This record gives sequence, structure tokens and C-alpha cells, in this order.
Amino acid sequence: MRLVMVGFGVVGRSFVRLLIKRREELLGLYGLKPRLVAVVDRRGAALCEKGLDLESVLKCKEERGSVCESENGREGMDALEAMELVDADVLIDVTPTNLRDAEPSLTYIRRAIRLGMNVITTNKGPLALFMPTLLDLARLNGVVLKFSGTVGGGTPILNFAKKCLCGDRITGIRGILNGTTNYILSRMEEGMEFGEALREAQELGYAEADPSMDVDGLDSAAKLVILANWILGKRATLEDVEVKGIRGIGLEDFEEARRDGSTIKLLCTADKGLRVMPEYVKRGSVLDVKGSLNAVTFISETAGEETVVGKGAGGMETATAILRDLVDIRMGILGDRE
Ligand SMILES: NC(=O)c1ccc[n+]([C@@H]2O[C@H](COP(=O)([O-])OP(=O)(O)OC[C@H]3O[C@@H](n4cnc5c(N)ncnc54)[C@H](OP(=O)(O)O)[C@@H]3O)[C@@H](O)[C@H]2O)c1
Repeated sequence: MRLVMVGFGVVGRSFVRLLIKRREELLGLYGLKPRLVAVVDRRGAALCEKGLDLESVLKCKEERGSVCESENGREGMDALEAMELVDADVLIDVTPTNLRDAEPSLTYIRRAIRLGMNVITTNKGPLALFMPTLLDLARLNGVVLKFSGTVGGGTPILNFAKKCLCGDRITGIRGILNGTTNYILSRMEEGMEFGEALREAQELGYAEADPSMDVDGLDSAAKLVILANWILGKRATLEDVEVKGIRGIGLEDFEEARRDGSTIKLLCTADKGLRVMPEYVKRGSVLDVKGSLNAVTFISETAGEETVVGKGAGGMETATAILRDLVDIRMGILGDRE
């Protein structure tokens, strides 16, 4: 399978390391022989129709700052040009999330679909803002759009609900979809002030220098939109979500929650509507997970409530979600042939 990857940061590089590590296993188990024919970062691209040498493209990025410095490098070439120049089956989009207009990822994904490429993205932006139309576009063009890594990092939250609970009808979703805010709230429960907990989360690499996407609830809302579309069949976008973050919470609120036998979590809920807001969760209940964990409960008509708990982010974890999507695409192609 011929891959073009746009973005070569934490997740992109982890994915390439995973391909190197699992090369033989992928061939043996799934007949999957991925060939990275192009990789693009902000300064340019590296292209090779026969497949780039993975070790040397990684080394070049780490030592020289851009893939365009490699022997197959093209300084200034962007993803649109690279996609036109190489013949590829799958676009892997691992560019930064932008929840204002989803660019440049949106343009890359649309172009790839129109060129007949399948798409795997870990970028929440295009899905949070345009998921219904992107899924329609992929269907019309006979390709698939996969996005396991957008919710829960490596924890297969989307696949669990879609595949393991198929046959039942999921009527609601409730959960914690942002590890950074869960870390901050867990520390506040222990008595640390918001500002101090946020600083600690930044020092540990959980929170960005600009933490607003996390603490204002937008990252959670984007993930809730993805779940609502994919699992509940809603045609929702980010503007359909009522969002309230965790900035206003103080230690006195935790004191009050404790008197009720509860703690406070940034909960995402999908039922008749979609909302993200700090809510009481009973202490010791399934959603009372600590630290940077994610936890999601699916409420289904017959099976009742099922909860998935796991790490919600991390480069290597998210890279495994890309690989999972790639294997799914490969198995889909094999299934069609049979
Ligand atoms: N990290 C996680 O744990 C995690 C978990 C789940 C989902 N995600 C999502 O996965 C995506 C990637 O995350 P990350 O942590 O790998 O981010 P990152 O380390 O910041 O890497 C982003 C990469 O995108 C490249 N890039 C930016 N604009 C570009 C453009 N116009 N054309 C080509 N490349 C461009 C950057 O190029 P340069 O290298 O030249 O700067 C960089 O290589 C994000 O959308 C993130 O929200 C991340």
C-alpha cells in the first residue's frame, strides 16, 4: 500500500517508527506492505515512487529539521503538489488541529478524496467542523475516511462502540474525553489550586503553552461531535455543542462535591443534545478515573452501560490507531476482492 503522510511531528514520526518495528509482522499477519512514497512537513517534502527509506527520512528530520533536506527532498513543495506527483492509495493526515476553519488539513483531505485516495486522519479539526459532508464526499468517491486516533488516542473508543456493540442500539454517550483537564481536576480534588495544577500539567507535557483548547472544553467538544456522528448517526458539527470549560472551578466547588459523595469531571454527554460541562460524578463510580485517563460510557438499549477506559493521547498510542485504520483499509480491500 502506497502512503502519503502530511505532517511529520510527534504522531507522524511515531507512526514511521511503528512501521519499522512491525514491518515483518504486518506482512505476515495481514499481507500489508506499506510503502511511504511521500512525506511532507512545513518546509517541504520528500518523495520516492519506490518508497522512501524510513530510517533515513526519520534521521534527516531529527538532525536537519525537515524532510526536504533528504536526498529525495523538495524544498517548498506542499501536500497538494506532492499528492499530484505520486501515485498513492492512502493519505495520512497528521497536521495540527485547527478548530477555526480546519485548514490546511481540510483542503488536503478533500483533494485526496477527489483523487481517489483513502484518508486516515488524527486531526479533529476537519471532522469537528465538516464531518457529515466529508463522510458524504468519501462515500461518493468510493473511498474511506478513517479517524480512530481522533478520539481516545490509542484507546479504541470509536471501534469499540461501532464494532463490538453492533447489533445493539446505542442511545447515549457520557464520558471524559480530555486527559489534560482530567489531570487538572484530579489534582484539584487533592487540594491543588487551578493555576498550579495547570502549570504542573504543562511541565509534564499534558497541556500546551496555550491551554485554551483543553481547559475551555473545545477539544472535548470536537471529540463529542465525532462520536455523535459516527456512533449515534447525528449530523452534528462543533456549533451544535453547548460548551463550558473548567476555568471557573475552585477548591470550594470540590469541597461541596465531596459533601455530596462526588467529585467534579469535565463530562461530555450526547443524548437528545450535545454538551460539554463540569459535572458531579459519584466517587468510585466508573467515570471517576484519575490523572490523564479518558473514560467513556456507552448506554445501549439491550446491553445496558459499557465503559471503555484508557490513555487518551500520546505519540505512539495515536500511531497505533493509524496502523489500526490502515489494517482496516487493507482488510476492506481484500474483502472487496473476495
Ligand atoms: N500528540 C498526541 O498525543 C495526539 C493524540 C491524538 C491526536 N493528535 C492529533 O494529531 C495531529 C498531529 O499531532 P502531533 O502531536 O504529531 O503534532 P506536532 O508534533 O505539532 O506535528 C505536526 C506536524 O505537522 C506539520 N505541519 C504543520 N503544518 C503543515 C502543513 N501546512 N503542511 C505539512 N505539514 C505541516 C509540522 O511540520 P514541522 O515539523 O515542519 O513543524 C509537524 O511535522 C494533531 O492534529 C493532533 O491534534 C495528537
